[in-house]
Amino acid sequence: MSTPRPLEGKVALITGAAGAIGTATARLMHQRGALLALVDIADADFGDLAELDGVRTFTADVTDPEEVAAYVRNAHEAFGRIDIFFNNAGIEGPVKPIQDYPLEDFRKVFAVNVDGVFLGLKYVLPIMLEQGWGSVINSSSVAGLSGAPGMAGYNASKHAVLGLTRVAALEVAAKGVRVNCVNPGPIHSRMMDSLDDSAGTSEDKRDKSVPAGRYGRPEEVASLVAFLASDDAEYINGAFHTVDGALHVST
Ligand SMILES: NC(=O)c1ccc[n+]([C@@H]2O[C@H](COP(=O)([O-])OP(=O)(O)OC[C@H]3O[C@@H](n4cnc5c(N)ncnc54)[C@H](O)[C@@H]3O)[C@@H](O)[C@H]2O)c1
Repeated sequence: MSTPRPLEGKVALITGAAGAIGTATARLMHQRGALLALVDIADADFGDLAELDGVRTFTADVTDPEEVAAYVRNAHEAFGRIDIFFNNAGIEGPVKPIQDYPLEDFRKVFAVNVDGVFLGLKYVLPIMLEQGWGSVINSSSVAGLSGAPGMAGYNASKHAVLGLTRVAALEVAAKGVRVNCVNPGPIHSRMMDSLDDSAGTSEDKRDKSVPAGRYGRPEEVASLVAFLASDDAEYINGAFHTVDGALHVST
């Protein structure tokens, strides 16, 4: 039986594409027929993704307006359109109570997680509005829906991503463009290892912290993103979507 290819011929632009969730999503979208424009910072390793047919890679710092304008322009010039935008680059910042949380770190987290998402929307949406179609998926988190002690920068930034998603969806829904966000719980990744190590969370406690009894896999986030990107999700707009083994509803 042939693999279903619901994204056949669609052009997907993905930031943070060399990371755990970005890579899994790029791989799944490629399997489902998408052409890919992958974006990450200068020394990022895209691995074998960069060698696949229909894949172009670009380097950019998502906090820099000129670099964002350039990655969007280059992707658009390379493929002629942008059907899907996974606005996904993010950093976690330190784990410290607010009184010890350096303002400099708070600003760094906001620069990537909020300015980066805002700038991506600012430069991609005009292209999608001109086309009259497009699906944007922003990376928020369960940390964008409820509190997490020690994570002021990350938590507040992911709440901001939810706000940006709602505003953007209202601004573009009448023109055929959709903007949703995904809110993963803890996913096996460098980012979660770093957060758990900083918080001193033992291996045993990590799995038990989730009602499903385990952390998720990057591929499980990718499935949700690929669905939201597809025409099957045509009436889904302005919404947040958890993929978290029931973590959010347990808090
Ligand atoms: N891993 C999790 O458990 C989890 C849970 C919820 C939400 N998320 C969110 O999902 C997204 C992806 O997370 P991940 O686990 O794949 O993390 P990751 O660290 O593996 O990947 C993040 C990617 O973003 C890139 N990046 C960072 N700063 C950048 C910048 N200034 N410009 C361009 N690229 C930059 C990194 O180089 C990296 O490749 C993030 O927004 C994260 O906050 C992750």
